[in-house]
Amino acid sequence: MPELLQFPAGFAWGAATAAYQVEGAVNEDGRGPSIWDTFAHTPGRTLNGETGDVACDHYHRYPQDIGLMKELGLNAYRFSIAWPRILPSGRGQINQAGLDFYDRLVDGLLAAGIDPYVTLYHWDLPQPLQDEGGWQNRETCNLFADYVEIVAGRLGDRVKHWMTHNEPLVVAFFGHWMGFHPPGITNPDAAAQVAHHLLLSHGLAQSALRAAGGSQAQVGIAMALQPVYPAGDSEQDLLVARREELIWMKWFLDPIFLGTYPFEDMELAGLGRPTMEAGDLEVISQPIDFLGVNYYSRNIARGSASSSAIEEEGEHTTMGWEVYPDGLRVLLERLHRDYQPKTIHITENGAAFEDTLRADGTVEDDQRQRYLQRHFTAAHQAMQAGVPLRGYFVWSLMDNYEWTFGYSQRFGLIYVDYATQQRYIKKSGYFYQGVIAQNGVTSA
Ligand code: FCB
Repeated sequence: MPELLQFPAGFAWGAATAAYQVEGAVNEDGRGPSIWDTFAHTPGRTLNGETGDVACDHYHRYPQDIGLMKELGLNAYRFSIAWPRILPSGRGQINQAGLDFYDRLVDGLLAAGIDPYVTLYHWDLPQPLQDEGGWQNRETCNLFADYVEIVAGRLGDRVKHWMTHNEPLVVAFFGHWMGFHPPGITNPDAAAQVAHHLLLSHGLAQSALRAAGGSQAQVGIAMALQPVYPAGDSEQDLLVARREELIWMKWFLDPIFLGTYPFEDMELAGLGRPTMEAGDLEVISQPIDFLGVNYYSRNIARGSASSSAIEEEGEHTTMGWEVYPDGLRVLLERLHRDYQPKTIHITENGAAFEDTLRADGTVEDDQRQRYLQRHFTAAHQAMQAGVPLRGYFVWSLMDNYEWTFGYSQRFGLIYVDYATQQRYIKKSGYFYQGVIAQNGVTSA
């Protein structure tokens, strides 16, 4: 029987975006180029050569977008700050106009009763820093901490929740090992070094945030996480599962929560040991206030074609990702058991489906509504099992630039007609409005 699952008082209900995916205005008010500008403008790198040059034009339309957030009833909004707006060269001269933009955004959110959750790095490294080696260069960690100090100095009186990084896995491995994200490098040793530097920069930034934000600063990091299910019990399956666990959990969580690297598994995966300095792991493992969990699907580890104990379920999103809500419950309970973060926020969860804007301005995205309902239910189950979950951010507030997939993947609660920049709240958006209003969801 469906029942109303109540969430705790004060639960943060939000939606998430990232600067390059929504802002546009890439050449305005002194913004410098980032590695995503360079990459997206390189022929063959993104679907149809699409770029974030205009995206959702949120840089200009943010007041209207805050109005839509308010209409949905969000009490929190997660967005990222573009480093190249603040420091066009990555260091040195501060661009006040860039800071002013985020200042206005934060004030607008607070006036609408929406708590800002700020990500400091969602993949848009200033291009001049890449030209000096980017995240392979240890100096970038110090420059990141400098940038964070500047941002926290300006916004720290109003912003309480900070995420240093979004999905360091993607930056390190997609960007430097598989090479299909910028800077497009395919070198496992470089990837390992970058992973270490991202973690180190997280630790250094944390100190800067605590200095500027005082005791009210809540510092976290948003991780791409997948629970791993071996397809069968063959040796090959178990070996692949161990490798996937390393990549999707342990590489980034062990150093932060346990103060160690899983070296044995790293060797097994064929990744080199990063160069470290004494004290790095202490910097990295400073206690954080919350772990941000980005969950989209599970990971089935298959070492050979024949293993078939586990098969993907029927439904997939247009990204090709299996819809598997119970993986969220399993993941949250596992994180709670193995790492005991003080609190957890789901910092991203959502789905891309084929959406149709009807003549009357409606979008009947029942699949997305169902996806959300099932995942909210799974999150509630995890809370019943003792997981300290404090907030939930749907990816995404509105359809936007989905990186290498260009504009082909619609993840929004709000439909964006890119030709006119008109926004339309989808059926799933109204569903979410209802969930927030009753601080609960009817069980799936
Ligand atoms: C995550 C990213 C986010 C968005 C979603 C679909 O990996 O953090 O920017 O692209 O996937």
